[in-house]
Amino acid sequence: MANELPATHPQTTAAAKTSLEALYNWNYEAEIDQLRNLYANALERQWIALRDLDWEREIDHDAFSRTFSLAGIPIQQTTFWKSLEPDLRWEVSRRSAAFMLSNFLHGEQGAMMVAGQLVNAVPHMDGKFYAATQTLDEARHVEVFAAYIKKLDVVYPIAPALKILLDNILGAEDWMKKAVGMQVVAEGLALYSFRDMRNQTEEPLLKKLLTYVSRDEARHTGYGVKYLSVVVPTLDDRQRAELEDFAFESARLLIDSRVSNSIRQNVFKMWEAAGVDIKAALELIMKDRERVVTELQRTGGRLGPIRGFVIPTLNSIGLFSARIRGHFEEMFEANVGAQAMRKIGDIPDLPEDLDAWVNEGV
Ligand SMILES: [Fe+2]
Ligand SMILES: [Fe+2]
Repeated sequence: MANELPATHPQTTAAAKTSLEALYNWNYEAEIDQLRNLYANALERQWIALRDLDWEREIDHDAFSRTFSLAGIPIQQTTFWKSLEPDLRWEVSRRSAAFMLSNFLHGEQGAMMVAGQLVNAVPHMDGKFYAATQTLDEARHVEVFAAYIKKLDVVYPIAPALKILLDNILGAEDWMKKAVGMQVVAEGLALYSFRDMRNQTEEPLLKKLLTYVSRDEARHTGYGVKYLSVVVPTLDDRQRAELEDFAFESARLLIDSRVSNSIRQNVFKMWEAAGVDIKAALELIMKDRERVVTELQRTGGRLGPIRGFVIPTLNSIGLFSARIRGHFEEMFEANVGAQAMRKIGDIPDLPEDLDAWVNEGV
């Protein structure tokens, strides 16, 4: 006898209106070899979250709070951090990390839905094959982030700006906008942040999980770069400008403090709930700021995900005109409130082998 159907449907809390053209392609031969190879590579590199990660293992509290970083800033080097009792360090780091990982988790759900859309929307069979593998990768990412957060704390709600970004990408009709918004901007930023967090943390389960996820993300970004590099040169000026604007708007939603200054406030609220005296903490952090920044620069500096990765990606696929550079520079200046921060200068090359770049430091 068949199992009984569940009595209730899952409650949906949000919906995005989407509309896209689903394209058939009757040519089953490889047309873009680079994408066909990437698909083959994705098949080889599948992993199974329940089998390949040790979920029985408890989170190592000490390693976790000793090597906790917030948006690339090694907060554990500050006097503020050293002034906290070990229990409070664990409380603060676990809550802040759960907050960040929750937004990664929600982003992964969005990425899974967009990858599913790309199977329909991209015109080439190689592109459809690849997007099919990515859909599965993203399902696994949703699975692992949800499982890890469960060990730490609760799942926090999505940041409003991230929700707008996902709605924009899901709602875009043009597959190239989806690819630029998701594969290049959102996944580029995610990849850089995952790799940063992976390099900082000494908590074994988190380190392994982020290593596996980053390897997948490197392929996803690679897909955007390879596919768009083939297509962008065929576009006219108007189409190219539209794509550039979409990329800029996507980045703006993720990093412009004028759009969303609530992330920092949310983190401070959580610290307060954990028992931190925020006023005293901020004073200590401000005192240390210069020393930590100098230390960061001495050890090779840190360009951050947009300057260090997203802009080089846009540049490499031909979507970084002088016009759009001006938009980014204006945003940087407004965000930091200093003209010195405006200049983008020479754009670094994208790592040639993203997979090797991800594995550096493992
Ligand atoms: Fe992902
Ligand atoms: Fe991804």
